[in-house]
Amino acid sequence: MRTHVITLGCQMNEYDTLTIRSELVAGGHDLVDHPSDAELILLNTCAVRGKPVEKVVSLLGGLRRERRAGRDVAIGLMGCLAQLDEGRDLADKFGVDLLVGPGAITEIVPAIEALERGRESRRRRARVDRLAFRADLVDHLTPPPPRGTLTAYLTIMRGCDHHCTYCIVPQTRGPEVSRPLAAIVHEAEAMRAQGVEEVFLLGQNVNSYGRDDASLPSFAGLLRTVAEIGFPRVKFTTSHPMNFTSDVIDAIAGTPNVCDYVHLPVQSGSDRVLRRMAREYRRERYLEIVRELRVKVPDVVLSTDIIVGFPGETEEDFAQTLSLYDEARFDAAYMFAYSARPGTPAHARFADQPREVKSERLGRLVERQKHWSLEGNRRFEGREVRVLVKEIGRDGAHAVGHSDQHHTVLVPAAQVRRMGLHAVRVEHATPHALYGSVVGATSVGVALPLAS
Ligand code: 5AD
Ligand code: SF4
Repeated sequence: MRTHVITLGCQMNEYDTLTIRSELVAGGHDLVDHPSDAELILLNTCAVRGKPVEKVVSLLGGLRRERRAGRDVAIGLMGCLAQLDEGRDLADKFGVDLLVGPGAITEIVPAIEALERGRESRRRRARVDRLAFRADLVDHLTPPPPRGTLTAYLTIMRGCDHHCTYCIVPQTRGPEVSRPLAAIVHEAEAMRAQGVEEVFLLGQNVNSYGRDDASLPSFAGLLRTVAEIGFPRVKFTTSHPMNFTSDVIDAIAGTPNVCDYVHLPVQSGSDRVLRRMAREYRRERYLEIVRELRVKVPDVVLSTDIIVGFPGETEEDFAQTLSLYDEARFDAAYMFAYSARPGTPAHARFADQPREVKSERLGRLVERQKHWSLEGNRRFEGREVRVLVKEIGRDGAHAVGHSDQHHTVLVPAAQVRRMGLHAVRVEHATPHALYGSVVGATSVGVALPLAS
């Protein structure tokens, strides 16, 4: 079937989409770039907050209108939403033909074949049921991205063993399973051979790598092994403060191509709220990790995730989050208003806060973050950073890339002939980006067709 895949949500979904695409091609299906050319549209969905679910509802609504206007198109729901009752209900409501949970993506081809058989017998909407989580997915080898891809994601583990009370992920992605070392190394080597310069190791909690299997190295060991494959850059996400041990910090400090960039979600600065969230650390432990990181990795850029307006969060609790900001000095943050997710313990146990309380606190936090992002970025003014230039920006005047420390960096487009690594002198910092000039290309790179 001519298939178009739409990917929403996190990097894990982007990586899963690569697996889905390779399975489809191997199964004899054509991938099409435009949804209007497709016989099957697959939505790889996210369910972590209400907003991404609303996005799916709006896409499904659009497809239902097209069908009512006479278009013959099959619809598949994949990703986290497909694993939940919420997804099943939406599938019923919008006539979804295919439901495949994130643990079953290697089953997509037989599921489509079953769907096609249903079509031949004119049993349209004969939905293939949701599939169970399949553990063999961890052994599955995803082919490398196309030549010319400079940054690639590599999933090292799936699932999550934590039970943060606000979070739906343990239900959609199941318990933690580490991928075999050989599979990771195989994929990483294939990526490097394709010219990938930056590999992003992915997992819900990368620091837990190997804890489910004594024959595997620890995450710090894995970092060193992947670094030896020769990528100029190794990055990873997401870390959990609970398992963020000194040996991981030492691996970052002692391995030059493991980047000085750490994404370490804190979620709240109040111990009372952390307890209600069932986060397994307290404010002081988090700050201890930050201090150790800043001492051992002086250039480290630290980003975080924060939820404001968690049920029962008082003004005093929120003040604790603001003061944690001033101590941790996050360079960047993904800030969210709490979104009650059906099926989570917090949804069952606690009453939601008024929307205005959440948005007012979010506004204050965003202001505080801007201040610390600007301070953090200014540390790099006048310095040389290494930037992986990937594209021409929307304004056409700048080329855009990321530094080793994961800042967004913009340079004049006229200074760039090829995508790839460049040495850049930083001239100016804003809260969101660094602006500078190219002082030299540091890798062979890939031709940049849009550069003048
Ligand atoms: N409401 C708001 N934010 C959430 N996150 C996870 N669940 C929720 C929720 N119910 C945020 C957390 C997590 C990030 C991926 O999404 O901050 O780290
Ligand atoms: Fe969700 Fe907590 Fe697991 Fe992260 S660690 S995926 S927030 S349950």
